[in-house]
Amino acid sequence: MTATPNAATPNITATDAEPEAEARQAPVADLADLADGSMKMLKVDGHRVCLVRTSSGVHALDHACPHEGYGLTQGNLDGDVLTCAWHNWKFKVTDGTCVLGEEAVRVHDVDVDPNGEIRVTLNRPDPQSLRPQLMASLRRGTEKHYVGQIARDTVRLLKAGAEPAEIMWDAAEHGLPRAEYGWDHALASATDCLAMVDLYDGDERALPLVQGVAGIAETARDRRVRELPDPTNDASVVHHEGFRAAVEREDLDAAQAIVRAAVARGDGPADLVDWFSGAVSDHHLSYGHGAIYSQKAFELLEMVGWEHADAVLGHLTPAIVYGTREDTLPYMKPFMRALAELDLDALAAEAANAATPDWTDDGTLRSALLGSDRTAPVAAAVRAVRDGAGIDGLLDAVVDAVSERMLRYDFDGEFDFGDDFGWLDITHGLTYPNAVRWLAAHDDGRRAGDLLRLAMFTAFQAHWTGRHEWHTSVGEPEQVEPLAADVVAYGDELQRRAHLDGTTAFIVHAHAVKTSRAAALEARRRDTTLPLDATARFLASPKLERFVAANVVRSIDFLNGRTQRD
Ligand code: FES
Repeated sequence: MTATPNAATPNITATDAEPEAEARQAPVADLADLADGSMKMLKVDGHRVCLVRTSSGVHALDHACPHEGYGLTQGNLDGDVLTCAWHNWKFKVTDGTCVLGEEAVRVHDVDVDPNGEIRVTLNRPDPQSLRPQLMASLRRGTEKHYVGQIARDTVRLLKAGAEPAEIMWDAAEHGLPRAEYGWDHALASATDCLAMVDLYDGDERALPLVQGVAGIAETARDRRVRELPDPTNDASVVHHEGFRAAVEREDLDAAQAIVRAAVARGDGPADLVDWFSGAVSDHHLSYGHGAIYSQKAFELLEMVGWEHADAVLGHLTPAIVYGTREDTLPYMKPFMRALAELDLDALAAEAANAATPDWTDDGTLRSALLGSDRTAPVAAAVRAVRDGAGIDGLLDAVVDAVSERMLRYDFDGEFDFGDDFGWLDITHGLTYPNAVRWLAAHDDGRRAGDLLRLAMFTAFQAHWTGRHEWHTSVGEPEQVEPLAADVVAYGDELQRRAHLDGTTAFIVHAHAVKTSRAAALEARRRDTTLPLDATARFLASPKLERFVAANVVRSIDFLNGRTQRD
């Protein structure tokens, strides 16, 4: 709450949604029945009104408090300030301004004639005309991270005919320049939330929207705005290689200036997906987040419109430039040495020629991905693509292996604070291959070698998420009761469950959202319940959420000279 007066928030009620929007004269009340400093509830054209008399005159407000709808006449009047009895929001009765709380209350016109007869004319503007004010109110709620206001305004906007993409874009526009390292989990999760709106009808569509907007509001709050550099005037660097080189040398300004120049000259998604899939394949970036965020950014643009590409791709770039290059870290060296032996362009061409939908893993690839030999995944993956797996078959095997791991993950280790590993790490094993599959599906063949490298990185990740098993126990694979009889309905229900506040920390919620959507897409592709079962177990299991005790334990270890496991 704040003591700063809030601008008026237009309120849409059920009566506003009726086709008859004309204001009409209200029934008459008598001034003699309304003592100074008193309130009474009236019905005007079926609408509940709080009639108030103070030393400044007679005023009429919506009777329903804009917070949760309790009656304002149950509150207290102090001069011209009315306090709602339920949660202490305070309003000026003269104009409805909120002086403590989140939203103003709507006021109506009052006429008192010389005989003391009071007439109230309802102020019921056409809901469509309120949309600009509602969007402004939603933005205020987003800026302050007032989840209640975000929820109310989202429902009002949907009632007023706003498109879900318009609502989510407003939040993304706020969050993009505030995301500390460019795209983040809030923006990625918001993209998935927007895609999930189709799983709901009517007002219920607000649930995924508000989850997405609230996530951005939480993570962007009080963060400084990061301006984008101007588009470069040097046309000689505005191409795929120029962008990729700027990313490689961590020249953020140059990379952003190149992307902006490309968008400004009219490059479209068919051109620029290629740029990003190339750039994110140069390194195994931050648990696959380079590829995951690129997929989400272009998916968001498909839903909100390419006219937002400048902001979306400009602010995506820092996540690619500054992502952790895991391939340079000690734990990836055995894998990278094996990968360096390969001519990936030639292998990609070979794989494309050999690819057949009939390929199935004879168990070799699965064993390599779920085993503990750090070089085995490369050899097994090469053999698979030569035998006909193609990139899609390789990604299928990765999804299956990670799903198996999720079903057998011994989550007692989740609360072993000395081990920097947990549920969230494993879930990237599903979202990463789903992102690479999306990028591959949008490739025109120019990046075959790069995409194969990305697919190889997903194999590394699938294998590496087993490191917990190498020094702890492997649980018994859990049998999961399906949430629905067929794969599509099961996937839809799983995604809806991810929105039901089964987690407390936003970061865990974001992983529940993105994993459930990736699992639903992967399951639908091959008519398999395996990734759905794995994700259902993840959603239902105990999860580390606060990370405070874990950080303290690790800080004590670190500051006493104990080194991290690689
Ligand atoms: S219902 Fe009025 S303050 Fe909560």
